[in-house]
Amino acid sequence: MTGRVEGPLKVTGAARYGADYNQPGMVYGYVLLSTVANGELLSIDTAAAKGEPGVLGVYSPFDPLELRPSKNPMFGETWVPLQDKEVHYYGQPIGVVVADTFEHARDAALTVTVAYDEKPALTSLEEGLATAEEAPPGRGGPAIQTILATGVESIEDAFAASPVVVEATYTTATQNHAAMEPHSAVAVWDGDELTVYSGNQAANLQAMELASALDVKESSVHAINPFVGGAFGGKARASAAAFLAASVARVLDRPVKITLTREQVFTATATRAATVQKIGLGAEADGTLVAVRHESWCATDTRRSFIEQTSHNTKEYYTTRNLALAQRIVPLNIPPTTFMRAPGEAPGSFALESAIDELAVALDMDPIDLRLRNDSTAPHGSDLLWSSKHLDECYRIGAARFGWAKRARHGREDGDWLVGMGTASAMFPAFRFPATVRVTLRADDTAEVATAGADPGTGLLTVLAQVGAESLDLRRAQVTPRLGDSALPPGGLSGGSTATASVGAAIMIAAATITDQLVDLASGPGAPFEGLEVTYAGGRVLAGDRSMSFGELLAAVGRTELTAEGSSAPGEERTKHSFSSFGAQFAEVRVHRWTREIRVSRMLGVFDAGRIINAAAARNQISGGMIWGVSAALHEGLDIEENGRLANADLAGYLLPVNADIQEVDVHFVEHPDTLLGAVGARGIGEIGTVGMAAAVANAVHNATGIRVRHIPITVEDLL
Ligand code: MOS
Repeated sequence: MTGRVEGPLKVTGAARYGADYNQPGMVYGYVLLSTVANGELLSIDTAAAKGEPGVLGVYSPFDPLELRPSKNPMFGETWVPLQDKEVHYYGQPIGVVVADTFEHARDAALTVTVAYDEKPALTSLEEGLATAEEAPPGRGGPAIQTILATGVESIEDAFAASPVVVEATYTTATQNHAAMEPHSAVAVWDGDELTVYSGNQAANLQAMELASALDVKESSVHAINPFVGGAFGGKARASAAAFLAASVARVLDRPVKITLTREQVFTATATRAATVQKIGLGAEADGTLVAVRHESWCATDTRRSFIEQTSHNTKEYYTTRNLALAQRIVPLNIPPTTFMRAPGEAPGSFALESAIDELAVALDMDPIDLRLRNDSTAPHGSDLLWSSKHLDECYRIGAARFGWAKRARHGREDGDWLVGMGTASAMFPAFRFPATVRVTLRADDTAEVATAGADPGTGLLTVLAQVGAESLDLRRAQVTPRLGDSALPPGGLSGGSTATASVGAAIMIAAATITDQLVDLASGPGAPFEGLEVTYAGGRVLAGDRSMSFGELLAAVGRTELTAEGSSAPGEERTKHSFSSFGAQFAEVRVHRWTREIRVSRMLGVFDAGRIINAAAARNQISGGMIWGVSAALHEGLDIEENGRLANADLAGYLLPVNADIQEVDVHFVEHPDTLLGAVGARGIGEIGTVGMAAAVANAVHNATGIRVRHIPITVEDLL
């Protein structure tokens, strides 16, 4: 087993994150946030702040910094801080105080007074439902879709013809990524050249975005994206900290560090939107689905920059004769909404997979049998079959491993505890993005595998080393992986569960190219094996019974190193198949008979995600995802007050599971390499771990108590 390349650095505290890159002469910015949810800034009085100890400057829309809205909306968002006087949510960045220390900047910020022309704000999804709009088309097609069997006039008719029907409305809470590392940036200008140290999901994209905002050449921005303390979609865009640090550093001509406080992260970055989802399922008595309807309403910010698409994944789970989907959005005065681990899929699967469980109860059928009876072979309405799908195997193995056969229809009792089991399916689409990787072979018999990208804790650095060693036929110890520097070839985004498949394919191409070059070099004029038939294996060039290591060859021809790049992008495969990872989630919960305390005592996830490159890193990703699912089910939820203030924007009030909340977590993979997606055979595992788990927990709660809770988080009060 190969351990994490960066593991020792992280556990010894030697790993340096963005804010650790202190610079000589560095000064500190403290971000000011709005305290109304809607309105216009009338004035910002900074006179007192400017006289506070150590203060070097106060910037606001009245005293602006030069930043331009992004030309090409990165991840759907173009907004940059401090350019407009409009306030759209409570906690919007409206200023930055700069001083010689963080404490001076923070203390001075307390003296700034802001006058607003405050307007009524709409902050509640429930109250906003009446003003819902049809969502723009998304990945799953137009917002409103109805696909009916021949001869069926309407979805209502399809339900009327269904012997068994369940209908219910589910809701999910506003969430925040709550990554351990708050968003931060250190920015340093050297003439026209900017270096920014800031944790992000793709060094090259961050450089591109900052260059656009600062109106400088992309090649002038050097983004160093060192270690990243969690991202989950919340560090896909450059952060307010990065935009502000870079522009303040330009004005002051000094290195600037800006770190958001934990509380600020909750509003000054972005959130996962709350949703309301109405599901209808119509079935024959044997469980065959006749009609499926999934209508969703998600909150979004006033700029409508992100849609939490919960309806459209439903067409990928099951075969049904009739299907109706609708996705609507409700613009609110809330912090920006954005991608958050399994965007759409995680809350969508809570609703769908709870409803499937309700249908199983109505049919008096085992929920696994019901799911497999309607197992999809392709997304509904598509001719492109799944490239590889082994969900039935996941359920077979999962049921045996979890002891599903012991599940009783109404749970069981263990002393004062009511014990129940629940299950749910998980899916997450498999994509690849374009990626370029550079491979270098050196005369000292070592190799480097490098790409811009990022490893936000996912294990990509280790994947780079492992796939690099494998593709170059070297020992793992010979290969140094490099990531997180925009000067390296563009490696794509650590997002969308794509990085391994994207980067892996590019490594294989780069490795094939460089070994061809080695062979040519060995047999070329004046080379050790001139004119001979040369092959490459195990880090050596071979000709007849002679061989030498690549390092020896490079030395012999007077080279210190040899480099090659490999690029890969999604292509033809997308016209031939549909691609997704699949999984079967299991949860056992114990609800205390008297206190109604809910404990998840065991969980198991069995996943079909193609080839697994590193078993430990993959298990780590998936178990983390499953814990997110428990967290969504029982803990997480931002409370938005009527005035738009987040009532629990800190880690005391925004509950996350701790070790004591999580007991047994079992992860298993059925490994069927998916070479139709890409040569490396891996599909994504970054997000699917969280999909379905909240439903599995809610279904287990129902099994234990007979109480069906249709919202998350589920609390003690729901079970009284
Ligand atoms: Mo993500 S939500 O894969 O950036």
